[in-house]
Amino acid sequence: MSRVLALSGSLRASSFNTWILHALPALAPEDMHLHVYEHLGDLPHFSEDLEADPPAAVRALWRALADADGLIVATPEYNGGMPGVLKNALDWASRPYGSSVLPGHAAVVLSSSPGIFGGIRAQAQLRELFALLNVYVVGGPQVAIPEVHTRLDPTADPAHRLTDPTTRAMLTSLLHGLAEAIDHQAGNRLIKPLHHWQNGLAA
Ligand code: FNR
Repeated sequence: MSRVLALSGSLRASSFNTWILHALPALAPEDMHLHVYEHLGDLPHFSEDLEADPPAAVRALWRALADADGLIVATPEYNGGMPGVLKNALDWASRPYGSSVLPGHAAVVLSSSPGIFGGIRAQAQLRELFALLNVYVVGGPQVAIPEVHTRLDPTADPAHRLTDPTTRAMLTSLLHGLAEAIDHQAGNRLIKPLHHWQNGLAA
């Protein structure tokens, strides 16, 4: 069984991106357990001054990440980029420097928007950030969901809200890609050079 932590870049109560995350368990391989982490709004703004005695919300995020074999991030786009709340969470996740629990994870990223570009610029930023943080991101299919409001039924229960068959098929494929990346330890392979570098520094 693999454990996957799902993060939404939106704190909005009726967030389309969060709704999509809640639709994923029904599309995931049977042995993938998916948990939507809904506490990014509890994190303080990142400050190095807080690192010596990290607040409980930060420690909870680190624990949740450490317990996960993989990550899913669904994000909206704010003004052409990823929302501050998501960048803040990933800045916290990247610490402590040299012993962050993030490197080596496998991940999928997706974005959605009521607009016609599906939040692709925010998604591109996220891919760039994960490359920097040694998180292995499944390359494709690249899922940026445009006009997302037309693909959801807000009156349905969370597991059945995502109605669009094409989006469901793409997400199913993406989740199987994540399962394979986790099974093949794609993330761990990625961090071997990082360990080599850190060991070299320690020697
Ligand atoms: C937006 N929105 C937006 N959409 C987009 O496709 N590109 C963009 O650059 C922006 N910029 C933007 C800035 C700000 C401050 C807000 C509040 C909104 C619209 C956005 O996609 C829409 O509100 C989504 O519904 C937000 O995602 P959730 O909360 O539904 O997941």
